[in-house]
Amino acid sequence: MARSSRSDAGRSLAELLGEHGGRLPAAAAAPEQVGRRAEYDLIRPAAPARGHRQRGFGWSPIPAPLTAYRASTAEIGGVFPLLTANGLPPTGALLGYDSLTSGGFYCDPIGWLLDGVVTNPNMIFFGKPGAGKSTTIKAFLLRMMMFGARTLVAGDVKGEYEKVCTAVGVQPIALGLGLGARINPLDLGPLGQGWGTLPVEERRTRASLIFARWVVLLKALVGARGVPVTPADENAMSTVLAELSGWSRGEGHLTTVTIPQVHDMLARPTEELARQCRYATTQQMIDETRQVTDALGSLVRGALAGLFDDFTNINLDWNAPIQSLSLQRLDDLGDEVVGIALACVNSWSRAQTDMRRPGEITIVVRDEVWRQMRLGVGAVQSLDADLRLSRNDGEIQVIIAHKPSDLLSVGAAGSQEVTIARDMMALCDTKVMFAQDPGIADELSELVGLGDIARDWVSGWARQRHGRAVWKVGDRLFKVTTVRTPVEIPLLDTNTALVAETAKAPVP
Ligand SMILES: Nc1ncnc2c1ncn2[C@@H]1O[C@H](COP(=O)(O)OP(=O)(O)OP(=O)(O)O)[C@@H](O)[C@H]1O
Ligand SMILES: [Mg+2]
Repeated sequence: MARSSRSDAGRSLAELLGEHGGRLPAAAAAPEQVGRRAEYDLIRPAAPARGHRQRGFGWSPIPAPLTAYRASTAEIGGVFPLLTANGLPPTGALLGYDSLTSGGFYCDPIGWLLDGVVTNPNMIFFGKPGAGKSTTIKAFLLRMMMFGARTLVAGDVKGEYEKVCTAVGVQPIALGLGLGARINPLDLGPLGQGWGTLPVEERRTRASLIFARWVVLLKALVGARGVPVTPADENAMSTVLAELSGWSRGEGHLTTVTIPQVHDMLARPTEELARQCRYATTQQMIDETRQVTDALGSLVRGALAGLFDDFTNINLDWNAPIQSLSLQRLDDLGDEVVGIALACVNSWSRAQTDMRRPGEITIVVRDEVWRQMRLGVGAVQSLDADLRLSRNDGEIQVIIAHKPSDLLSVGAAGSQEVTIARDMMALCDTKVMFAQDPGIADELSELVGLGDIARDWVSGWARQRHGRAVWKVGDRLFKVTTVRTPVEIPLLDTNTALVAETAKAPVP
């Protein structure tokens, strides 16, 4: 049976009133929206206060616990838009947190370079002993391993990187008297590979790089003995190197040279060599280069004996995540020997990194650099050249010093050494400043260009806890605390032995 549509739908209120002669009032027209513009929509709340009640829409059953403050516009002007850091992108190694924002702090020197935050990826660390410099660097290189970065520790004076190496399955290379490992600082390095097959132009370019490194190192070593190197001495050393390597006989030859060979040829020059070096006789050459020759001789018999005076018998494995040249066994022989060993290892390491595969990230760590800087102008120049010449793409140089005077004490104010040391600061666009005593913080502030507030952070805030440092990344400042994970603590801690001994000691 068909039902009437009327009985189905029922009557509306308007119809009911109409049947009884009444009328509903007309609905009021919506008010006209005067002056409404599209951009007002942008500042309308996009979501209800607790979010949309839908899965994945961030609905919150309780409102966020916000604190309300009242302030005049004058006061608000001081805090708005609230305290934020000039943030860096969250890429690279997560090191800890930034105390200004409580956000994570990521260290990514190559990323910073690509983003134009810094002009080079090199970093220099300052801080009083025990402030946490090495810990932060070890945490950095461990965490960068996840991005495929490889590290070379060019001279581990305290042997503290050994634990990190063994933890990732790498055997560190220990250099020490009687240990058998030997490095020839005058190695050709990878630049000498496949020499016979290289085009002539390429050979010349590579030879000039190799000779420049050799001469700078020899000057540093001779200078370490307190002997100034004159331009005539430098010319004699270059000529001897060209002769011994075979370069003077044409581009087809380039063989490795050792420091004792250089010494012997300077001590007993041939007439031909004396003539090439523009000395009238062999005796005149011997007399005029005597100081340089004797300085090299004493190194060959003393500090370099058995370690740096013959052909290299170790190999670096560039596929390993970390390689370390440990100098811990030399520490008892005194600062000068360690400084000389560092100069040799640093120069050799530069040669090894000359031909890395492009695009790879390599971190070269130079811890305890102050020991090398103390040797004088030649050593400073050598370090400067290492930084300047090894700016291959993807290479991060990390230098660790204690205080600015490590770099500046090498010469009188305004001297050539000081100028080089200041330039070196520019070659490290990221400066990391751990705790310092107030006087040193003033020096640092002047050298790095910190303001008063940041200087007080270095001498106050940073001293309250290990691992705190002011980071100057290009022009931006951050207050960073490095955080060690429980897995890392046994690898990074340099006080473990001390703590264990203290625990054993009887309580008085
Ligand atoms: N981020 C950190 N959190 C907690 N403790 C730390 C941190 N960094 C360092 N420490 C503690 O400080 C000790 C010394 O640190 P580290 O060896 O890194 O100092 P350093 O600045 O390299 O000293 P030196 O100049 O003598 O080489 C560590 O063994 C550890 O106990
Ligand atoms: Mg250290």
